[in-house]
Amino acid sequence: MTDLVTDLVDRPTVGATHGRTTAAAAVGGGVLIAGWGHAVPERRVTNHDLARHLDTSDDWIVERTGIHERRLAGPGESTGPLAIAAARMALDRAAVTPTEVDLVIVATSTPERPLPATAALVAAELGATAGAFDLNAACAGFVYGLASAAALVGQGVARTVLLVGADTMSSIIDPDDRSTAVLFGDGAAACVLVGAGPPEGNGSTEPVRTTGAGAGAPGLVAADLVGDPAGVDLLVVPAGGSGRPASAETVAGHEHFLRMDGREVFRRAVRAVAASVGRTLAQAGCTADDVALFVPHQANARIVDAVLPRIGIPAERTSSTVHRFGNTSAASIPLALAEAADAGTLEPGDLVLLCGFGAGLTVGSALWRWNTPGPAGPNGPAGPIGPVEGAL
Ligand code: COA
Repeated sequence: MTDLVTDLVDRPTVGATHGRTTAAAAVGGGVLIAGWGHAVPERRVTNHDLARHLDTSDDWIVERTGIHERRLAGPGESTGPLAIAAARMALDRAAVTPTEVDLVIVATSTPERPLPATAALVAAELGATAGAFDLNAACAGFVYGLASAAALVGQGVARTVLLVGADTMSSIIDPDDRSTAVLFGDGAAACVLVGAGPPEGNGSTEPVRTTGAGAGAPGLVAADLVGDPAGVDLLVVPAGGSGRPASAETVAGHEHFLRMDGREVFRRAVRAVAASVGRTLAQAGCTADDVALFVPHQANARIVDAVLPRIGIPAERTSSTVHRFGNTSAASIPLALAEAADAGTLEPGDLVLLCGFGAGLTVGSALWRWNTPGPAGPNGPAGPIGPVEGAL
């Protein structure tokens, strides 16, 4: 009879060989986005396609939202597989192996399953023994994840973090509800964040700040994570959680689908985004003129149009993908960031401003100093955002 402790507990775990770092080593030169990746479902659904079974029209949707089409998941394209495909691309482009990843964070409100966390599924599929957790801050999830990851790297808790924003909104959208079905899409995008280590030639043992306008180091310059509690009931999925577990009754009542007060979300989102961006820039001692690229949550072109004059950033310095993908929730900001980065619009030292808002209402802004040379990371470009390949 084998000794269970010796056999199962003390046996070395395959792949458990990351070089975890000390705080002093990790904070030195800030945090780098070393690579990024993306994955969207194959199926492209245009407004005209939707108008075949919904009482809507291409004109109505384009005028009210700026959305022309979205990608909707087919078999094998749910949150887990999309996240894994985006993560693989990001790791490849960063030239980082799964065993070098210390932590996997998946921002999502449509996890692959209630348990385990989608992040754990991603780590398992990649063969990484990294810590793994999901983060639900709805459509602001990627910004919350970025601020959290930067803080964890800055404190030396992790050196290499795989951060994914992934959602399959079609799994919680009533396809017969024209007020929500036209707005949302499915997708995933990922970033590999790496502690940059001590700056070259700096023999100082003093920790180098990773936040603040004067820091100059890559990574998080300032962040603002806030809530609008008066909006807590504006975007809800009533059933399927512990308060009201799924049952035949909840399914019959369509309570597992998203319900939204669109007008009120619109009104509150414009104000909240403008205020959050203002606080983030003030915290950093920057103005809108210092921002090289604004990457807002891609919920609706009209919301972005209303925000831009309030914050003083022109449309030319704003990344937009909403016309092609709709609102992909936690994936929307990293997809738009990846597209801009792939297009070579970012130079080392550029300040990138990200802002998300979503159910809760959660609101979050982050000012990030870019320092990835070239448009693609160490392993070159991966081509335009397209369907998941091979990972499913
Ligand atoms: N096609 C055609 N008509 C539609 C429609 C559709 N897809 N959806 C709603 N309508 C109708 C409504 O029923 C209403 O008809 P009525 O006047 O006969 O009652 C009319 O269009 C106007 O509806 P309303 O809700 O006032 O339109 P709106 O100008 O506010 O635009 C949204 C609706 C949803 C596009 C807009 O409120 C919005 O963008 N909100 C923000 C939503 C969002 O971004 N949510 C995610 C946040 S993370």
